[in-house]
Amino acid sequence: MSAVESGEFAVLEGARPPAGRPNLRRSLRAMRQNAQTAFRPEDFSADIISQRVLWRSMFVINEPSAIRHVVLDNAANYNKSEVSRRLLEPGLGRGLLTSEGETWRRHRRIMAPSFDPRSVTGYAPIMTNLTNQLLEIWDALPEPRELDVSAAMMQLTLHIISNAMFSSDSDEIVDSVERGVGTYQTKVRPTLPDVLHFPIWLARLLAPIPTRIFDEFDRKVDRLLTERGKMPDTEPKDLLARLIAARDSETGGGMTPKEVRDQVVTIFMAGHETTSLALSWTFYLLSEHAAAETKLHEELAAVLNGRTPTHADIPDLRYTRMVIEESMRLFPPAHTFGREPIADDEILGRRIPAGADVLILPWLLHRKPSLWPDPERFDPERFAPERSAARPRFAYIPFGAGARICIGAAFAMTEAVLILATVAQRYRLHLVPGHPVEPQGLITLRLRHGLRMNLERRAR
Ligand code: HEM
Repeated sequence: MSAVESGEFAVLEGARPPAGRPNLRRSLRAMRQNAQTAFRPEDFSADIISQRVLWRSMFVINEPSAIRHVVLDNAANYNKSEVSRRLLEPGLGRGLLTSEGETWRRHRRIMAPSFDPRSVTGYAPIMTNLTNQLLEIWDALPEPRELDVSAAMMQLTLHIISNAMFSSDSDEIVDSVERGVGTYQTKVRPTLPDVLHFPIWLARLLAPIPTRIFDEFDRKVDRLLTERGKMPDTEPKDLLARLIAARDSETGGGMTPKEVRDQVVTIFMAGHETTSLALSWTFYLLSEHAAAETKLHEELAAVLNGRTPTHADIPDLRYTRMVIEESMRLFPPAHTFGREPIADDEILGRRIPAGADVLILPWLLHRKPSLWPDPERFDPERFAPERSAARPRFAYIPFGAGARICIGAAFAMTEAVLILATVAQRYRLHLVPGHPVEPQGLITLRLRHGLRMNLERRAR
């Protein structure tokens, strides 16, 4: 029996929580190399964890009503955290993930129509067509078919976001983003001067970070924008057209070329890796849980009977969705997000000083024993409607919550359900024996060694 079947995720190599009190060196090393190694067993049960890094205070909020307080009820008192801004801005600039205040509100209003239910319905054929193209490539591989499924999912979701949002099927752009994101995650890590909020110029002097990672990609985006500028402004009506033509309904203002660039990079970055990781972790979990995989196959046979799913099938693909939800509970692709209070606050009876680092960690919250009995066990039935309804609303937050909730949540869930349903009808994926699976918390929750799997063609 594997570690996963026995329910012992905590023993996955490298994710073992160390014993003892938190200490500065270990926390910093964990932050830079693998956030998942920082936690002690008792942290998963805590409501709030506080830690000092020299003169700075950090609080991990791990209780649904307190999370609601930060992201919804008292959200006006919280900005995105300085550390996450310093981590993301060198690559993403001031896109939707990193901007604040009126600029953020204006940009979110401009972009919202590209993510509304009608638009998402329209993207479904792009999602399934590109998945079918990938399966044709898999079909043509010689037996025994073996590949890195996490790399394949990364490429697939990149092509989907590129087609859906920017009407571009350029392999060049996709390859540049892939290279840029990979280097970014491994080279750009929080440094002690950033954690201590040294002025940016001093932090960069003491701990330089590469800023040219996206140069090649930027040149491709420039070309995309130039080509679009030459087209008649009637077609295509995608996110890029919306960004270029945007006139805010309240202010009448448009976006500058730099603002458009920052949103394009943000959507490319935020819009593919998280979904691809959700799918990779799902394929891994299914390969370790035969009963759940059989139940998934039964649903697919009953609802689809071999045909490619459409958007209209999604309400009937209930178990497919539950599998993905449970996978994102155990392996939330966005494992951590941070806030910074503008004025002093009080949470669960603790004073939270202005400027402190307030962290919300789906990785901890989704394994809290009082919310998730037997938390290490993979059990999609937890997401049966009646059981979900019985849980506090802020107990499950893979897409964040409140005003800054993921703008792409519906897009991502539609994409994940359609890809899983399309792939699982044609292939069973088995972990290559002996391949190590280790969660690695960088900006996202990656698989440190990739995911080498054997592809078994299912009988038609
Ligand atoms: C499984 C897939 C995804 C996960 C787990 C995920 C997770 C998240 C989380 C947790 C946040 C909130 C961060 C915070 O509050 O600080 C967020 C924000 C965001 N996400 Fe996603 N995301 C996913 C897919 C997508 C997709 C497909 C897109 C775009 C096509 C996208 C674009 C964004 C953007 C632009 C924001 C910033 C929203 C704002 O601040 O207004 N995400 N995402």
